Amino acid sequence: MAAAAAVGRVAAAAVESNERCREMDLVSPEFLDHFMNPRNHGKVEDPDGTGMGGSPECEDWLLLTIRVEAGKIADIRFQCRGCSAAIATSSATTVLAKGMTLEEAEALSADEIAKAVGGLAEDKRHCSLLGEEALKDAIKDFRGRDPVTPDKL
Ligand code: FES
Repeated sequence: MAAAAAVGRVAAAAVESNERCREMDLVSPEFLDHFMNPRNHGKVEDPDGTGMGGSPECEDWLLLTIRVEAGKIADIRFQCRGCSAAIATSSATTVLAKGMTLEEAEALSADEIAKAVGGLAEDKRHCSLLGEEALKDAIKDFRGRDPVTPDKL
C-alpha cells in the first residue's frame, strides 16, 4: 500500500515537471532572460519612494524602491514573491522605468510591461499588473513625502 502511494507521488511529480517544461517552451526568450537573470533585484538604499503591488488572486507581491533625481527615476530595485511571470515582469518593469520621467513612469501600463517580456498567456496577464501598480505607488509615495524639493523635481 505504501509502495503504491509512493509510486503515485512520483508519477504526480513527473507530470508536474513535464507541465512546467511545456510552460517554459511556450515563453519567449525575453521572458526567460528576465526570469533567469533578473535585473535590479534588491532595495535602493534610503529610497525616495517605496511602492507595493499585490494580487489578491494569488497573494503574490512586488516591492519597488526608487531614487528620483531631476524628475527622473535614477535608480529602481525590486523584491518580489511570485510566479515566474511576476519575477520576469518585475525585472522588466525596472529596466523600462529606469531613466523615465515620473510622468512617463506613471503612464507605464501592464500591457507595455507584458510586451517587454514577449507577451504573457491570458491567465498570467495579472502578473504584469504588479509592476504597474507598484511603480505608481512608489511615485505617489515620493510625491507625498517631498512634493516641492527643487533638486528632486
Ligand atoms: S500567479 Fe501570482 S503574480 Fe503570477
